[in-house]
Amino acid sequence: MAVTTQTASPVYSDGVIRQFALASILWGVVGMLVGVIIASQLAWPELNFGIPWLSYGRLRPLHTNAVIFAFGGCVLFATSYHVVQRTCQTRLFLPALAQFTFWGWQLVILLAALSLPLGYTSGKEYAELEWPIDILIAVVWVSYAIVFFGTVGIRKVRHIYVANWFFGAFIIAVALLHIVNSAAIPVSLTKSYSAYAGVQDAMVQWWYGHNAVGFFLTAGFLGIMYYYIPKQAERPVYSYRLSIVHFWALIFTYMWAGPHHLHYTALPDWAQSIGMIFSLVLLAPSWGGMINGIMTLSGAWHKLRDDPILKFLIVSLSFYGMSTFEGPMMSIKTVNALSHYTDWTVGHVHSGALGWVGLVSMGALYYLIPRLFGRKEMYSVRAIELHFWVATIGIVLYIAAMWIAGVMQGLMWRATNPDGTLVYSFVESVKATYPFYVIRVAGGLLYLGGMLIMAWNTVMTVRNGRVEPAPIPLAAAHA
Ligand code: HEM
Ligand code: HEM
Repeated sequence: MAVTTQTASPVYSDGVIRQFALASILWGVVGMLVGVIIASQLAWPELNFGIPWLSYGRLRPLHTNAVIFAFGGCVLFATSYHVVQRTCQTRLFLPALAQFTFWGWQLVILLAALSLPLGYTSGKEYAELEWPIDILIAVVWVSYAIVFFGTVGIRKVRHIYVANWFFGAFIIAVALLHIVNSAAIPVSLTKSYSAYAGVQDAMVQWWYGHNAVGFFLTAGFLGIMYYYIPKQAERPVYSYRLSIVHFWALIFTYMWAGPHHLHYTALPDWAQSIGMIFSLVLLAPSWGGMINGIMTLSGAWHKLRDDPILKFLIVSLSFYGMSTFEGPMMSIKTVNALSHYTDWTVGHVHSGALGWVGLVSMGALYYLIPRLFGRKEMYSVRAIELHFWVATIGIVLYIAAMWIAGVMQGLMWRATNPDGTLVYSFVESVKATYPFYVIRVAGGLLYLGGMLIMAWNTVMTVRNGRVEPAPIPLAAAHA
C-alpha cells in the first residue's frame, strides 16, 4: 500500500477510539452477564424471583441488544475508526461528529437498558427498541456514515483498502435495514405499531434480521479480520484478488437469504425456496473469506504457538467457517423442519456469536488497547492466553450442549406412535433438555470469566503498563 509523502501532518484522532474500545469491554461484561442470567433462568426458572423486570421475556432482548449492539457495536466503531485512519493516512473527518457518535451510541444503550426491562418493546427481534430510540439510532448512524465516508473521501492514498469496503457496506446496509424495518406508526411516546402487516411484516423483519447477521455480525467483523490478521501476523493478505471477489459475492448474496427464517410459514413457497438457494450459495463466499484469512498465516504458522492474539483471530475464523457451513445446511427446508424452534438454532447462533464475533473482537481489542494507550503490550500476555483457553472451552460446552439438545428436541417432537399420536409430551422434551441447560450455564460462566480476565488485564494495562514513546506523526506511520 502506498504511503503518503506529506510531511507536517496531525496525529490520528484516537480519543474516540479509546472511548469505544473501553466501552466495548464494559458492555461485553454486562451483556454476557445477562446471557448467563437468562441461561440460568432456563435451567432454574425461579431465578426471576417473581420480579417482572427480571423475567426471562424482558431480559432476553436486553441480552441480545447488549451483546450485539452495545458490545459488538462499540467494537465496530472503535476498529473502523482505527482502520480507516491508518489505511487512508489521514485523521477522522469531523472529529467532533465522531465524538457525537460515541455519546449518542452510549445514550441509545442506556435507553435500551432502561426500556427493555421495563417491558417497552416493538416486538420485532433485534429491533425491539421503541420509535424515539429508533430515531436516535438513525441520527447516530447517519453521523457515523458521514465520519467514515468523509474520512475515506479525504484519504491521502489512492487505493481504498479492502477492510474499508467491508466497513462501508456494513454502515450503508445497517442504515437501510434499520430505517426500512423500523417504519412504524406511533400511538404514544412508548408504543408504536409496525407500518407493515401480516406476512409482509414478517418478510421485512427477517430481511432485516438476516442482514443484521450478514452485515452487522459478519461484514463489519470481516473488515476487522482483513486489517488485524495481516497486522498481527505481519504478513500481507493471502490473496487480495480473492478479497475483492469475497466482498462483492458476499454482499450480493446475503440480501436474498432472509426467507430461510420463514420456512413453512404463510410466505409463498417460491420465496422460501429463493431464501434456501441463496443461503446455499452463501457458503462459497463465506468460505472464500475464511480461507483467505487463515491462509494469510502462510509461512507464519509457527506464530500461532506463542502469540495468543493470533490464536483469537485465527480460531475465530474457524468458528466462522463452522457456522457458515451449518447455516446453509439449516436453510435446507427438510433440515429446517427438524432444527426450527429447537436449541439447535441457539447453538448455531452462539457458534457464530461467541466463536466468530466474540473471539475476533477480543483479538482486535488486544491488538488495539496497548497501542491506543501508548503501551508496548498488554499488562499480562499470560492472561490473554488464559482468556483464550477459558473462552474456547466455554464455547465448546455451550454449542455442543445446544446441538445435542436441539436435535433431541426435534426428534422427540416429531416422533409418532403407529396410531398417529405423539410419543412424547412437550414437557418430557423440556425435562430431557434440563442437563444440557446446566452445561450451557457452565459454558457461559467460562466465557464470561474470560471476559472478566480481559477487563482486569485492560485496567492494569491502562494504569500500569510499560509506556511507549509518544504517537508517531502521520507522515511517518505506515498503512
Ligand atoms: C456468556 C455468554 C453468553 C451466554 C451465556 C448467552 C446465553 C444466551 C441465552 C440463554 C439465550 C436465549 C436462548 C433461548 O431463547 O432459548 C441467548 C440468545 C441469544 N444470544 Fe447469547 N449468550 C452469550 C453471549 C452472546 C454473545 C457474545 C452474542 C453476540 C455477539 C449473543 C447473541 C445472542 C443472540 C443473537 C441470541 C438470540 C438467539 C435466537 O433468537 O435464536 N450471545 N443467549
Ligand atoms: C452462510 C451463512 C449463514 C447462513 C446461510 C445461516 C442460516 C441460518 C438459518 C437457516 C437459521 C435458522 C432459521 C430458523 O430456523 O429460524 C439461522 C439462524 C440464525 N443465525 Fe445463521 N446462518 C449463517 C451464518 C450465521 C453467522 C455467522 C451468525 C452469527 C454471527 C448467524 C446468526 C444467526 C442468528 C442470530 C440466528 C437466529 C435468528 C433468530 O431466529 O432469532 N448466522 N441462520
